[in-house]
Amino acid sequence: MDNLLVLFVSFLLFSSVYAKNDCPGVSICGDNSFKIRFPFGLESPQNQHCTYKPGFNLKCNNQGKAIINLPGAGDFYVRDINYLTRQIQLYDPYDCLPKRLTKFQLPSSSVFKPVYYRDYTFFTCSTDRVNPYYSVIGCMSNSTISTLATSYIGIVSLGEMSFFGCSVTSTVSLPVSWTYSEDEVFTSKLNNDLVLTWPETDSTKAIQIFRIVALSLVIPALMCSLVLTCYICYKKSQEAAPTAIVRRPEMIIGLDDLTIESYTKVVVGESRRIPGPNHGICSICLAEYHPKETVRCIPECEHCFHAECIDEWLKIKGTCPVCRSNPSPVHLNFS
Ligand SMILES: *[C@@H]1O[C@H](CO)[C@@H](O)[C@H](O)[C@H]1NC(C)=O
Repeated sequence: MDNLLVLFVSFLLFSSVYAKNDCPGVSICGDNSFKIRFPFGLESPQNQHCTYKPGFNLKCNNQGKAIINLPGAGDFYVRDINYLTRQIQLYDPYDCLPKRLTKFQLPSSSVFKPVYYRDYTFFTCSTDRVNPYYSVIGCMSNSTISTLATSYIGIVSLGEMSFFGCSVTSTVSLPVSWTYSEDEVFTSKLNNDLVLTWPETDSTKAIQIFRIVALSLVIPALMCSLVLTCYICYKKSQEAAPTAIVRRPEMIIGLDDLTIESYTKVVVGESRRIPGPNHGICSICLAEYHPKETVRCIPECEHCFHAECIDEWLKIKGTCPVCRSNPSPVHLNFS
């Protein structure tokens, strides 16, 4: 019976490791500090067969830039992804985002949406007259012609503008991420990164944690209880003792937030060195540590992991994922 269990568990572990290597759950592109994980995925020659959520696949070019293709709007470089606020921050490979924005049209089927749309009126002016006075859009200007944009067209005096040699070229609805109060009369913010949001997916973080938990904990636990139940049934039928009281095996208990919080947190430095007997990767998510990430270490064995990974783990299972050491009772909180 024990052999069967060992066989099953090793099969599970093996298949989970195999699946992980095959289509990585978490990737990093170049020196970028953000992780590429669900719902995003990194396309690479090694995992061409991996399918990610449509529209969420990124490419990593040989300069280490993460690239997203927005259907209808073209390629953008990714500066950052915030999975909590579900915002992706993009910039133009050719460093002239305002020019891209004037032609920016996302089809309604696009999964990404701008934070706001706002109407901007563009002027072209003679450079020598406006440059000392107004913030111009540098990449759309040269020594003779300067480009200005304003979202305050009601306030701007067109008479004054023509005095500065300006004429209106177009009025376009542009995707922006700032409020009116943060904008200037003649905006310089169109050079800022383009911020887009994506809708809440059924389970952004949950899926990953679920995979880890399901594979490493729940299924073996279920198997254990199944085997135990069988064993108990078998015993019962053998003994035929109708009054036998069977104590249920104690379930694996996780730690409470206070206990978890009491464990030391360390912010990874530029050297990426982690204290204690640790390697450069987090054994839970298998991703490398990067500067500024927060790791948490278990006091008994000094094994460290990404704080976000180990916190979720300890809530469910109160032992170290590497050495299975139990936290000492000092840290347990029975309130
Ligand atoms: C400046 O830009 C305008 C419009 O793009 C163009 O017609 C003009 O030739 C440019 N001038 C110089 C000096 O590059």
